Amino acid sequence: MTTSSPTPGQQPLPELDTSVPQSARVWNYWLGGKDYFPVDAAVGEQFRAVFPGIVDVTRTSRRFLARAVWYLAAEAGIRQFLDIGTGLPTANNTHEVAQRVAPEARIVYVDNDPVVLVHARALLTSTPEGVTDYVDADLRDPDKILEAAAATLDLTQPVALMLMGILGHITDYEEARSIVRRLLGGLPSGSYLVLYDGTDTDKAGVEAQEGYNRSGAVPYILRSPEQIAGFFDGLELVEPGVVPCPQWRPDPADLPTEVAAVGGVGRKP
Ligand SMILES: C[S@@+](CC[C@H](N)C(=O)[O-])C[C@H]1O[C@@H](n2cnc3c(N)ncnc32)[C@H](O)[C@@H]1O
Repeated sequence: MTTSSPTPGQQPLPELDTSVPQSARVWNYWLGGKDYFPVDAAVGEQFRAVFPGIVDVTRTSRRFLARAVWYLAAEAGIRQFLDIGTGLPTANNTHEVAQRVAPEARIVYVDNDPVVLVHARALLTSTPEGVTDYVDADLRDPDKILEAAAATLDLTQPVALMLMGILGHITDYEEARSIVRRLLGGLPSGSYLVLYDGTDTDKAGVEAQEGYNRSGAVPYILRSPEQIAGFFDGLELVEPGVVPCPQWRPDPADLPTEVAAVGGVGRKP
């Protein structure tokens, strides 16, 4: 079945297949959003029945994203962000956090899902002083991403490369590492990598992910914390390193919980 759902802003939504679950929409379902179809809710519910901890994974990952972007803008002085695997707009999107600190911050959002991009164009809008731009590209094409980002970002100045909950979609580990290297290769010294990904540390989580990967959705591979930390090879890790997302510089009011996802921030020397 294909359909067009109600459109934010003026642009018509592209045709989309509502019979196949999609990463951004299932993620939105777990986050408590409303931008998903019955097939996404069904797969999300099946997952949650096997691994209830997925809800904490999604929500603490988003909180990690907000703290990491705040750190990069407020403490590291970063003014340019390349956020690949944007997801559907939710609370505390990258540009909102960055531009709260620095209204002039420039953000390029990249996704390969045209529906995500339509929502992003309509809802992820910049302050007058800054810029947000939207690139339709696949993570597997780092050269295209860098070339398109260069229209908005000055790639001679530091950039925060954000790969939040997306590298699991690159099922081959060496390919994923090579993509990270190629993207960072196009950015100058003083740039940062920030990422998180789901881990294979919870038996029920692994079982639930296997079910998801059989659903027809683009598969997502859970990796060990050590493999995920390996994406930061050659970078200077910002304290406290690659840790469960809620433990990365937690807000004092947060309970430091354990979830099956790790994240970190590293600086390119
Ligand atoms: C799990 S969601 C994470 C969303 C957001 N980064 C977050 O942390 O909340 C993964 C996102 O990556 C996008 N994505 C998956 N594979 C991709 C690829 N090969 N190239 C570009 N985007 C991709 C999906 O469309 C989706 O928006």
